[in-house]
Amino acid sequence: MARPVMIAPSVLPADFSKLGEEVAALEAAGVDLIQWDVMDGQFVPNLTFGPDVIRSARQHCSVPFEAHLMVHTPDVMAENYVDAGCSRLIVHAEACTHLHRTCGNINELGASAAVALNPATPVSAVEHVLDLIDLVLVMTVNPGFGGQAYISTMEPKIAEVRTMLEAAGRADDVHIEVDGGIGPTTIAGAAAAGANVLIAGSALYRDPEGLEHAVSDLRARAEAARS
Ligand code: DX5
Repeated sequence: MARPVMIAPSVLPADFSKLGEEVAALEAAGVDLIQWDVMDGQFVPNLTFGPDVIRSARQHCSVPFEAHLMVHTPDVMAENYVDAGCSRLIVHAEACTHLHRTCGNINELGASAAVALNPATPVSAVEHVLDLIDLVLVMTVNPGFGGQAYISTMEPKIAEVRTMLEAAGRADDVHIEVDGGIGPTTIAGAAAAGANVLIAGSALYRDPEGLEHAVSDLRARAEAARS
């Protein structure tokens, strides 16, 4: 059975001076989960949320949190982000010397493990950890900043992940997520290619009709593209 469409915000464009209110507003707008773009200033040239920031926001809403760990040392940080309230940790294949062990350790912590692939990283990087993860993130921008242009040449790569999951018998267990440049004019291509978890930051916050409209519009566009 196809995995359901899930619309998830990146918190990057939110007002950092009131993150508790911001995550409550995102929940009220109907998001399925919230993604925290964790950046260490080393893996990507930007610095964002420590675990204590996420912990403080956790009490203000009830939707699941996932941490997108754009960091050089995910093994060192994993437990802190699980303790802060993240139920999924997304590590970058490019940052993991021992990806199989990293994913297994995340599962041991009681969280779901997931792997992100930068645009140049081949799908084969996750071929041998499909039994340890519940999500593959195909980056549709080069990580580090919000507001970048969608890289449409990633759509065949999304389809390749879907084919790999089907061949491995994991299509019903593993989500395909995309992140970067997702908005009203790009979401259909990503969804049609096979993505079911769609991360949007700028597109949610720049919708003149507000967050709730943005979430429902993106959801409708993604579902229409899959039917
Ligand atoms: C890149 C970030 C962004 C963010 C979404 O490292 O991960 O992709 O989540 O940004 P928008 O939706 O503004 O492209």
